[in-house]
Parts: sequence; C-alpha cells; structure tokens
Amino acid sequence: MNFAVIGSGGREHSICYKLKQSKRIKKLVCIPGNAGTKNLAENINIDILNFNEVYKVIKNNNIDIVIVGPEQPLVDGIVDFLNKKKVRVFGPDKFASQLEGSKAFMKELCKKNNIPTANFGVFENFKNAVDFLTKNKMPIVVKADGLAAGKGVTICETIKEAKKKIKEILDGKYKSSKKVVLEEFLKGEELSYFSIVDENSFQFFGSAQDHKNVGEGDTGPNTGGMGAYSPSNLLTDELEDKIKKRIINPTLKVMESLGHPYKGFLYAGLMISKGEPYLIEYNIRMGDPECQVLMMRLKTDLLEIIDCATKGRLNNLKIKWSNDSCVTVVLCAKGYPGNYIKNSEIKNLSTIVQDQSNQIFHAGTYEKDKKVFSNGGRVLNITSLGKNLVEARDKSLENLEKIKWDDGFFRKDIGWKAIKNENNKR
Ligand code: AMP
Ligand code: GLY
Repeated sequence: MNFAVIGSGGREHSICYKLKQSKRIKKLVCIPGNAGTKNLAENINIDILNFNEVYKVIKNNNIDIVIVGPEQPLVDGIVDFLNKKKVRVFGPDKFASQLEGSKAFMKELCKKNNIPTANFGVFENFKNAVDFLTKNKMPIVVKADGLAAGKGVTICETIKEAKKKIKEILDGKYKSSKKVVLEEFLKGEELSYFSIVDENSFQFFGSAQDHKNVGEGDTGPNTGGMGAYSPSNLLTDELEDKIKKRIINPTLKVMESLGHPYKGFLYAGLMISKGEPYLIEYNIRMGDPECQVLMMRLKTDLLEIIDCATKGRLNNLKIKWSNDSCVTVVLCAKGYPGNYIKNSEIKNLSTIVQDQSNQIFHAGTYEKDKKVFSNGGRVLNITSLGKNLVEARDKSLENLEKIKWDDGFFRKDIGWKAIKNENNKR
C-alpha cells in the first residue's frame, strides 16, 4: 500500500519508522518531512495547510491512506476536504477536532455529559473573568481557548498575574481565539491515555507521560514537550476502567449523537487525583514526543492497524505492546521555547548505532550537502527501550553524549517521578 504522512516532527518520523517496517508498505511519502524521514520516505515540501496542494501530491503518488500528524490541518478540516475527494484519511473531521481546537467546546461538552473535569468558566470580557477570579481560590489556570502550540496555558499564583494573562488572551495574543478559559487548579499526577478510534470501536493505544516544562524538576515555562516515557506507572486496570467508563466512552457517544462520530487517535491528558481521573485536555492526534515512545513499544504492524481503522474493523485486531519501557529525550536548540538558534550544524549523528532499541527521531532538522542542520526549537528525539525506565533513560543519555552540538540542550531527568516508583508496571 502507499501511505502519506503529514507533518514534520519527531511524531511523524516515528510513524514513518513503524510504517516502513510493514511488509505491505510499497510507497511512503512524508509531507513535508525532515532530515530523518528523508531516509525512510520521499519528502515533499509543500504547505500542509494548502489542502489543494496536498491533494495533488496524494493523487500524483497514488496514495491509499493519509495519516495526519499535527492538529492544525485537522482543526482546519483536512479530513472533510479529503473525504469529499474520496481519499482515505485517518483522523477526526473538523467538527470533532474542536475537542482540541476549542477548550471552551471541550469543557462545555464535559459539563453537559458529566465527564469529570476541573470547574471552569469561559469568558469574552475582562470584567466577568475577574469576577470569576475573585470567587475562586488561587492558583488558577488561565487558558487560551484555541490552539496555542502547548503555550497557551499558565498556572497563576496571584490575581495580578491572572489578570495580566487574561488581558493578553482577550487582546488577541493567540490568533486562534480571543476567548479565555479559567479553571480550578487540580492537584495530582498527570497521565496521557491514548486510544485509537474507528466508527465501530476503540482500543487502548498506550500510556505515556511527557514533560512540558523546559527545566529540570519540571520548572520554567511550558514547551511542546522536552521528553516522554512509556508506560505510565500510574495506569492500573482499575483506573483504566474508570477512564473508559467516565471519560472515553461518554465522549465517543456524544460525538456520535452530534452526527460526527470520532475517528482517529484520541489523546486524553488526565489528572489523577486520589485515584480518580479528571480530563485536563483532549488532543485529536498522537502526542509529540509521546508518539515516539509508543511507536518503539508497539509490536503490531502499524500499517495493518491504520488499514483496519479506516475500514471500521479495529475490533478484529489485537494490538500488542512490548513490556519494555521507553524514554525519549528531546534535544532542543538553545533559547527554546523563546527565540532559538537556527541553521546550526549537528555532528556525529552517524556514530550512534540505531536498532530496534535505539532510534533518533528527527524534528526540526534539514539536510544539506549530506550534513544535518537545525531549523526548529525541538530538534532531535533520542529514544531508547530498556528493561525499565532507568535503563532506557541511561541508554538515551549515553547516545546523547555522542552527539556534537554546542548550540543544543536537553533535560537529563526525563521520567524522574516515575523512576522513583518503578514497580507498578503494566
Ligand atoms: P493543557 O494544554 O490544557 O494540557 O495544559 C497544559 C498543562 O497545564 C497540563 O499538562 C497540566 O500540567 C497543566 N494544567 C492544565 N490544566 C490544569 C488544571 N486544571 N489543573 C492543574 N494543572 C493544569
Ligand atoms: N506533548 C504534548 C502534545 O503533544 O500535545
């Protein structure tokens, strides 16, 4: 079969890596891809938000199935567009994509259907937002309603700070929406729970945890993700039952009743508080860098899974996972998540042995004259499997030591909380 993967991050590189292992893959195209996907797929450098251009590439390459990696084309309706053109595409339609595209949509849906989530208010005007603030305890979570590349959320310790953030959002700092969502701060531990969904059923698609803060010990500003590990030590059978019963099942039922049955990867960002799950956010796609650790642990043929999912036959499949742990450490360009260095050469990548247990997934990279250069904030994902998280992380860090790049930095402590408690694994 011929596949096209849309996107240019570590997530898309890891998806290409798994598709390429399938005996049934004939042609693989990555739109636009990066220096890593170039070795597995044909990179085609076009604007992924120009759907007519994307369609041309799909037609010219006789693509059977399209996988959409990032959220923006999904939120903009790429699935509706390609479906109309009779292209098989894996992902939610524009309406269902509001689960990620609008926090207000997601929160209202939770409220109406008793899906556990933090108490909240949605505001379009400063005075009403401030009224809500004064009635609630600090800290308070201030969120931009629309897409903000993981940077639209601030946990505010004081009313003064919250007011400043609210004003920024209402003044249009995030172009996707001017609404602000204020939320009660939930205490607990976070867990990312992934599902793969087709029109008839859904299946667990792995657990993971990422580290959003730029600094060690989870300090400093939020990023798109500085590293991730899988599995999460928090997920027990009992907790999983609650997640499915109280959060995933009701959400899928509502989407169906609204005439837009959810199809695609569904990533639930959860807070586990005293053993109870609360939904913090939905993402309508795989996580990045969570996808990288999940693809390393996935034992079932990804092509087969997506083929079944686009035919509504997921319930025929048993998806298998390795019992090993996986860690990915993100190598970033200095300055990220602020202004960062670009076009800087990264050396010695070829000295790292890449095999079933060790992979370097590229993100913000490009190749020129057989040399690799950075062109993004998150640049490489150094990913390793191990018997446990400590072993996996040690291998990633060992591989990182071999890379020569003075303009890069990374966190050495990925998985630190879970490493304290390695026993409760599934
Ligand atoms: P989001 O983009 O909604 O996932 O938020 C980004 C991060 O902010 C989450 O991963 C949490 O660490 C934190 N966060 C968001 N909402 C809450 C909340 N209501 N209570 C506590 N932490 C939160
Ligand atoms: N790593 C967070 C995300 O993909 O949204």
